[in-house]
Amino acid sequence: MRARFVNTTAPALHSVWTRPSRPRLWTCSSCSRLARSTPNRPLALQSAPDQKPYYITTPIFYVNAAPHVGHLYTLVLTDILKRWRVLKGEKALMCTGTDEHGLKVQRASAKAGIEPKLFCDKGAAIFKELAAKALISNDHFVRTTDSDHKDAVAYAWFLLQEKGLIYTKKHEGWYSVSDEAFYPQSVVQPYLDPPTGRKIMTSVETGSEVEWSSEENYHFRLSEFREPLLQFYGENPEWITPAHRMKDVVQAVESGLEDLSISRPSERLTWGIRVPQDNSQTIYVWLDALMNYVTKAGYPWAPGRDNAGGWPADCHVIGKDIVRFHCIYWPAFLMALGLPLPKKILTHAHWTLGGSKMSKSTGRVVDPFLALDRFGPDVMRYYLAHDGGIQDDGNYDNVQIIKLYNNFLWAQVGNLVSRITRGKKWSVRGAIERIGPLPASEWAEGPGSRFYNTLSTFPLNIAESLDAHDPRRAVRLIADLIRSSNQYFQMSEPWKKILEYGPGEPGEEVDRIVYLATEALRMAGILLQPYMPNKAKTMLDQLGVDDTRRTFEYCAVGRDLHYGTPKIDLGVKYTGALFPPLPSEE
Ligand code: ME8
Ligand code: MG
Repeated sequence: MRARFVNTTAPALHSVWTRPSRPRLWTCSSCSRLARSTPNRPLALQSAPDQKPYYITTPIFYVNAAPHVGHLYTLVLTDILKRWRVLKGEKALMCTGTDEHGLKVQRASAKAGIEPKLFCDKGAAIFKELAAKALISNDHFVRTTDSDHKDAVAYAWFLLQEKGLIYTKKHEGWYSVSDEAFYPQSVVQPYLDPPTGRKIMTSVETGSEVEWSSEENYHFRLSEFREPLLQFYGENPEWITPAHRMKDVVQAVESGLEDLSISRPSERLTWGIRVPQDNSQTIYVWLDALMNYVTKAGYPWAPGRDNAGGWPADCHVIGKDIVRFHCIYWPAFLMALGLPLPKKILTHAHWTLGGSKMSKSTGRVVDPFLALDRFGPDVMRYYLAHDGGIQDDGNYDNVQIIKLYNNFLWAQVGNLVSRITRGKKWSVRGAIERIGPLPASEWAEGPGSRFYNTLSTFPLNIAESLDAHDPRRAVRLIADLIRSSNQYFQMSEPWKKILEYGPGEPGEEVDRIVYLATEALRMAGILLQPYMPNKAKTMLDQLGVDDTRRTFEYCAVGRDLHYGTPKIDLGVKYTGALFPPLPSEE
């Protein structure tokens, strides 16, 4: 390793905070094209700066193995939160992608006997296919092998170096290829591997095997960020959701931060981004990977374009397994680069299978493609959002999906839509015309007043949950509303109250019941769009809601009086149903 970048004097911290324009070190010919920056970053350079779009991300997934339901879960949660913003009329961007460098992928490609880039192309294509199949509306798909990303990482490296935040030293410690992380002696333990009888060393935290490494490499002065990080956590106590994970992070930082090794010798790690101007070292995969979030936001941006691509991110959605990287390393890197920090880190719990974590490394996984084929994207999205854990782990169970389908989607949602839209003795359109224009005061008392009140407060409750990044709570509230609508309709017994004024004119009492139940469905349909884009569309089509009136703005009783004439054929019983009976497989 060449020593020319060695800088052992720590910079005064104030210099860490000054935002540089362009690094003065910007001279290397291979990188100077970055300064001119070009076809790779059309978004940041060409679009109007206007308002910062809402920007939400998933982790980028390793391509070492095929995706499983855990990855699909993160994609779905993130997509729901993105679609929620769109529903509210905001411009929102979502980024997902693949993490393609590092020892883990290098070894997987070697094992498969496929050249790494080709191996990654295949892996990335599979994750892309998964996103498409699950109706994920990502705007970006970042690959760490993309040239704009490699440029962004090289740029960041220069900047860190210029600020004196990188130095070389000999590093000794345990490395887990599976976690792509160094561990100090204090957090590893011996383990007798049952299948092989081999005695191995493992990480106490993750259980992954670690191997001893002793090498010269570049280090990042992470220890200097202990105070700034603690100050930031103190000022933003709700930065991490759920709150208890914030406590763990604060504790970890309080107990001290060691400088972080951010490169590996190239002869060991060949598959990665080389340290600029030092071919003998390759950049640590987590520094490389975390930068993906700014890459697609257009980093390094031209002056005045800082927010055009969405940075700072409004929300990083991650699993609880990678909290340390996102909540300690990443904000420290960003502080070091003089960039604003993401506004929220939503950390979710894990899917387990028969009690232990679903994981690519153990092979205990559910194939998301098969699950999507079997249940369809809408039902899978609904199930994952409804039963998936934010706080606590959730156990994946096919029987549970079937129950949710039969007892709720089919028996409650489908049933209510069918009963109302196919009722021969009333007219949905007629009820809307006759009852819709009534002022709210008409609902102050009498039958329906309680249900009217429930409907009136419903959208705000949902908004509150989704704004608080809690799609699980929101979907349960939507389900509650559907159940109370069924109950209201059932108890009101409109079929017994028909007065034959004429065809489709059953009298005001029935009109009122049909109107409120229909409004409940219209509002639920609008709010289900982020969860079940296709099913919600069909539902709104069946109700005859105009395409331009499906935003949150219209989600209030009486806000839309134009619907009620189905836009699609309702079909005969069952075959045209929103949720037809499941084929019996189990
Ligand atoms: O960690 N339950 O990638 P990865 C729920 N490349 N979610 C799960 C899960 C489970 N059982 N298993 C995985 C990496 N996930 C890095 C990230 S980001 C800059 C780099 C989800 O392929 C969850 O979101 O191991 C978790 O954080 C992520 O997949 C890890 O995916
Ligand atoms: Mg992992």
